Amino acid sequence: MVVTIIGGGHIGGACALGFASAGSAQVTVTARSAATLERFRGTQVRTSTDNAAAVRGADFVFLAVKTAQVPEALASIRDAIDFRRQVLVCLAAQVGPAELEAAPRLLYAIPNTAVEIGRGVTFLSDISAGPEALEALKGLFDSVGTTVCVPYERLGAGISLASCGAGYALKYIASAAKVGEQMGFTPEESARIVAQTVLGTSDLLMRGSCDPEADLRKVATPGGMTERGVAAMEEAGFDAAVEAGLKANNW
Ligand SMILES: NC(=O)c1ccc[n+]([C@@H]2O[C@H](COP(=O)([O-])OP(=O)(O)OC[C@H]3O[C@@H](n4cnc5c(N)ncnc54)[C@H](OP(=O)(O)O)[C@@H]3O)[C@@H](O)[C@H]2O)c1
Repeated sequence: MVVTIIGGGHIGGACALGFASAGSAQVTVTARSAATLERFRGTQVRTSTDNAAAVRGADFVFLAVKTAQVPEALASIRDAIDFRRQVLVCLAAQVGPAELEAAPRLLYAIPNTAVEIGRGVTFLSDISAGPEALEALKGLFDSVGTTVCVPYERLGAGISLASCGAGYALKYIASAAKVGEQMGFTPEESARIVAQTVLGTSDLLMRGSCDPEADLRKVATPGGMTERGVAAMEEAGFDAAVEAGLKANNW
């Protein structure tokens, strides 16, 4: 599969490096400045500052620029892209299908940055590309993590859970690590202890039936320290805080 990614920033770059590591696509990434593309030196990822030239020969053309940059980026490839053979994949979910009417074969893909290490979560939504293209794109993102296909209206929920969700997970790790510092660990020790705890707990959870309440019952023995701590977190508004964060941006 041949993929061109217009915009080699945080998420475009993560996709490019993830696909290249997985060997699932031949990838070209573009950016406005050559300095942005330095990150890909020494990798399998090809680079270019010429969007129109870069889309030639691609099966999928990813638009991975900021929302406000979409019109300019789209204008730069409009005449080069051949929609009989090529599909546009928009990563800027807030640019609605109506604003991309000029793209008759369109899909949305909302990955999170862990695609770079093959452990991402990506939401896909087909607008007008068709089942074959959706299946092919799903295969590509499956090579760098888990993929969930949803209607466009549910992309916002996906963004909350998995894209912003990466930030929310970091917020928990940062908060817990600060408390660890108060308890005598260095900042780095504390952050590593909490991160490893989250990683190991998630790995165990995913190996079973992925029922967090059941795993919580196993570690929070009645009358024990964990049960007391979880009750104190609930009392302090933990569940309400998580819900407020997840629903803060729903669209
Ligand atoms: N970050 C995430 O976790 C995430 C997840 C899912 C979706 N998204 C969406 O993905 C989009 C990009 O987000 P980001 O965080 O990756 O932004 P970013 O780090 O700012 O990256 C945007 C990149 O686009 C390049 N660019 C801008 N205009 C261009 C043009 N005309 N031609 C070629 N390259 C151009 C910029 O290149 P220069 O550096 O050379 O200016 C920059 O490298 C956003 O719409 C965001 O909502 C982000």
